[in-house]
Amino acid sequence: MSAMTEGSARALNGLVTHGWNRAAQLYNFPVLQRLAYRPPQHEIIAQLRMSRAHRIADVGCGTGILAARIARELRPQVVYGCDASVGMLKQARSRSDQVQWRNRRAEDLGLPDGAVEAVVSTHAFHFFDHAAALAEFHRILVPGGLLAIVLNSPRSRWAMALQPPAVQGLAYFPPPDEMRALVEAAGFTITEQRPVRRPLPNSMVPDVLTVARR
Ligand SMILES: C[S@@+](CC[C@H](N)C(=O)[O-])C[C@H]1O[C@@H](n2cnc3c(N)ncnc32)[C@H](O)[C@@H]1O
Repeated sequence: MSAMTEGSARALNGLVTHGWNRAAQLYNFPVLQRLAYRPPQHEIIAQLRMSRAHRIADVGCGTGILAARIARELRPQVVYGCDASVGMLKQARSRSDQVQWRNRRAEDLGLPDGAVEAVVSTHAFHFFDHAAALAEFHRILVPGGLLAIVLNSPRSRWAMALQPPAVQGLAYFPPPDEMRALVEAAGFTITEQRPVRRPLPNSMVPDVLTVARR
């Protein structure tokens, strides 16, 4: 990573997930969900539908809205909802019993090699140790498996300024070209990269979807 050293940022990841334990209370607020979080989830569902994946991991699943939607709408064989925060997972568990919730870090998911056909992640990758998480996604995916990640692009300065201070200090948002390089360095082939479609101007919530195959 370029903005901080791996060590300094990731050593503080415990602080981030502790923060999310508290934020879990506010997270499901409907306006926040509709404007910020739901459009990327629509994109991920569409990607999964096209890929016909039957074994799926949602990493940094938070309160489990996307993982529960995947289970409900796509009815795959298995969905793992993985998150480092106990507080977020507590809400997730009450949302669905169709998902296998796992209190695991992105960098060490504890699943066997080739366990899944798709790894997805929305608004969480900026907290991960990027290289370690991508290596872990590569390990648990079958050859040809789908990787779909949404995260904010740091190119919108004022959108970044709206991030809570804890996020600004402890997360790192790779710009799209750096994201491509990271994903390719982990052994994936990029198939698509573009802004997420949403009802707001993209400059307001500048999410970028990156899709790749193992
Ligand atoms: C902004 S929330 C996103 C939740 C969900 N993906 C969504 O789009 O609604 C970020 C989540 O990433 C989780 N997280 C942060 N670092 C993590 C790590 N290293 N491994 C797994 N989860 C992590 C936090 O606990 C939090 O639940």
